[in-house]
Amino acid sequence: MNPTIEKLAGLAEVTVAMRRVKALTEKARPRYHIETFGCQMNVHDSEKLAGMLEQMGYTGAKRAGEADLILMNTCCVREHAESRAFGHLGAFADNKRENPSLVVAVCGCMMQQKDVALRVKQRFPFVDIIFGTHNLHRFPLMLLRVLENRVRVFEVHGEAGGVVEGLPVRRRKGAKAFVTIMQGCTNFCTYCIVPHVRGPERSRDIDNILSEARGLAESGVKEITLLGQNVNAYGKDLMHGPGFAELLWGVAEIDGIERIRFMTCHPKDVSDALIEAMAGCEKVCRHIHLPVQSGSTAILRAMNRKYTKEDYLALAGRMKDAVPGLEITTDIIVGFPGETREDFDETLDLVRRAGFSAAFTFMYSPRKGTPAAKLADRVEKAVKKERLLELNALVAGMTARENEAYVGRTERVLVEGVRESDGERLCYGRTHASKTVCFTGGAAPGDIALVTVTHTRELSLHGKQAEV
Ligand code: SAH
Ligand code: SF4
Ligand code: F3S
Repeated sequence: MNPTIEKLAGLAEVTVAMRRVKALTEKARPRYHIETFGCQMNVHDSEKLAGMLEQMGYTGAKRAGEADLILMNTCCVREHAESRAFGHLGAFADNKRENPSLVVAVCGCMMQQKDVALRVKQRFPFVDIIFGTHNLHRFPLMLLRVLENRVRVFEVHGEAGGVVEGLPVRRRKGAKAFVTIMQGCTNFCTYCIVPHVRGPERSRDIDNILSEARGLAESGVKEITLLGQNVNAYGKDLMHGPGFAELLWGVAEIDGIERIRFMTCHPKDVSDALIEAMAGCEKVCRHIHLPVQSGSTAILRAMNRKYTKEDYLALAGRMKDAVPGLEITTDIIVGFPGETREDFDETLDLVRRAGFSAAFTFMYSPRKGTPAAKLADRVEKAVKKERLLELNALVAGMTARENEAYVGRTERVLVEGVRESDGERLCYGRTHASKTVCFTGGAAPGDIALVTVTHTRELSLHGKQAEV
């Protein structure tokens, strides 16, 4: 069958299943609770799952204990993420004991690894549904089978398939929203599990992305974050399709959208056209998350990152020159197999020279099935920990100094929320680049407020709304 027709037929089946679940549960008015681990891709997948559940008549519950259906969306990027998921899952046994009709479902990247999914199936007999990342859209069919037949459903697909369009999405109401522009990753960094559990890079059609963004603008969204594991490779898998820079310009044309962010970029795919869009398009935020992973060229080669330390520093410098006020944030892994003290010193040196605003730092965690997990010369845990602490101290000092430089400046802050603290009304939001600011004033969510930064506290900025 033609893949498009096949997909449409598949979706029709899903729509029918949604209607049948709704009819089955109508009187019970069931509630759902979703726990999400991992990155923004998972957060957005959970928004789609919530969208489907609400279309099936479920309403959200804040706590697992109040729910008739608990769904856990898992991550497996590092061992820590996996062990947290196992811990949480164990706790749901009590919920099931108290409420035997409770449905427990587990999905996400961790379940896309068949051996792990099998382990969950065997170790946690109260789990009713297990599915992977490639068949998320089939969740209503699985739920229907559980509700009708009280069977356990186990569906992990080996093949990624195309991008499925047209699923309902339940987003948190507010000024900002995520839009996925591509799925998967084909880079195969040697330490990383993501390409193995998310499939190859598949870009969405630009018209679908733009119409989703237009719909969001119409519903009051001001800031859109374009999501993908490697957004700057957008379009490379489409024949004669537009590239990422063209997509940015396209989104910028939409009235009502004031800010455009994106995550994540791979340094090897930063094009001149992207730098021009960041410099020339006012709506594109002056922030790029550009993971470097290591400052040692030898380690970068072993990681299959396809750039050297010098390439990265030159790129960061070129971008800062072209885009005034640009903030660069990054990810760094310490203790990759074979990393010597000298290699680590190269990382510290790169961090001192690249001018990062912030960095997310991780200890290398071997992931089964990846090439790096087979490398022999592992770095001892104690050494990894030491290096992480040393790197974190350097990064914290740099972030604090950069934040200090903001004191006295007036910034345009998109207000994301308001809360009360000690009887004071506090608004919070982000600058055009990427700093979170907490400030006093009368602004409402969705406003762009002029805020004067008055002081910093640990790693955050604080201020007050400027008189207009
Ligand atoms: N697609 C993104 C990152 C996805 S994972 C990118 O390439 O930029 C987020 C971060 O987790 C990575 O940037 C990396 O720093 C870290 N990471 C991935 N696999 C890891 C592993 N096995 N051990 C430790 N950190 C890892
Ligand atoms: Fe993983 Fe590398 Fe792909 Fe990022 S680019 S998701 S680190 S394989
Ligand atoms: Fe984790 Fe999957 Fe994201 S492994 S980091 S949730 S793509």
